[in-house]
Amino acid sequence: MSDRNTPQTATVECVRLYDPASGLDGYIALHETDLGPAAGGCRFWSYANGEDAKADAVRLARGMTYKNALAGLPFSGGKAVLRRPEKDFDRTALFEAFGRAVAQLDGRYVTAEDVGTSVADMQVVASMSRHVAGLPPEAGCAGGDPSPWTAQGVFESMQVGVAKALGRDLEGVTVAVQGVGNVGADLCHRLHAAGARLVIADTDAARCFALAKQVGASVVGVDQIASVEADVFAPCALGGALDLEVARNLRAKLVCGAANNQLATRDVAAVLLDRGIVYLPDYVVNAGGIISVSAEYLGEDAGHVGQRVAGIAPRVAALIERAAQESRSPAHVADEMAEQVIANARELQPA
Ligand code: NAI
Repeated sequence: MSDRNTPQTATVECVRLYDPASGLDGYIALHETDLGPAAGGCRFWSYANGEDAKADAVRLARGMTYKNALAGLPFSGGKAVLRRPEKDFDRTALFEAFGRAVAQLDGRYVTAEDVGTSVADMQVVASMSRHVAGLPPEAGCAGGDPSPWTAQGVFESMQVGVAKALGRDLEGVTVAVQGVGNVGADLCHRLHAAGARLVIADTDAARCFALAKQVGASVVGVDQIASVEADVFAPCALGGALDLEVARNLRAKLVCGAANNQLATRDVAAVLLDRGIVYLPDYVVNAGGIISVSAEYLGEDAGHVGQRVAGIAPRVAALIERAAQESRSPAHVADEMAEQVIANARELQPA
């Protein structure tokens, strides 16, 4: 496998975004592999400094490459990370400036929603560039907020994981959900409908209590959610939810959630494996969003999205089985499978 196509070492180009007039300050990271142009959402979040934002963009772009590869999408990984201004700002002007930056990349990067951005923000970007998805769909076409597709893929993966790891269905299973934003809240509604018990936490207390009323969930503090008594832990907030300490104290037997980059470090996967906890790799279970976004960008219909999202759970089932047979973490098995897809794409390139 050449260096260029080993996701850990392939080049990541970082484009600096800086427009003091609008408050735009951030990065677009493009992971250069032979899968295709870089695709991945735009995160709008508070970062202590530019270096943290840049590091997050690079990490997230690499994760997107693995995700796109395993989902069979013709895209490499990309990510935009924009620092939320501390002072008042004009949101339209900021996303117009971001849209101009996307336009300048001329299709090398395709953006969409991520944490902190909405369909309305992407409509502003679309006024500047056509390389954006997650826009209101036209009849029969793919499009719109990708979160419900993400939640569906996570939910169906959890069903498979619970069946294989716990030998039961979701009825009566306790799921601890960390972060109840767009995906987390949707996931909670699906779990509630399937008879699961919910324990939830979010830094936004009002959002958390409002949802708790709707789905009969118990609310705990954000510092408690990872160690509560539960069968499943579902990280649906930001990355790095599982560090070594969290992994050593986790009581759940299955981890399955929407957040990107859940493992703070690679050695966390080994701790989970040693403790008999089944970890379903984030980028495998949360591919529903990018599946929707890429179908929209490629002009496919909504039926395509449903078919591809329905393919996530069987992929998860195969992954759990192979990992168990080989006594390895599903995280390592998934990485290997994604790297093979990327290597195959490299071989298809003209010499
Ligand atoms: P969101 O911004 O709607 O929700 C995130 C929620 O997490 C917010 O309610 C926020 O208050 C909460 N939160 C932040 N820090 C927290 C903490 N320390 N403890 C508990 N709660 C905390 O974002 P969204 O769209 O629901 O995404 C959630 C995760 O899933 C992100 O990591 C995102 O990258 C990932 N993801 C989302 C996709 C989508 O389609 N929206 C697709 C694939 C991945």
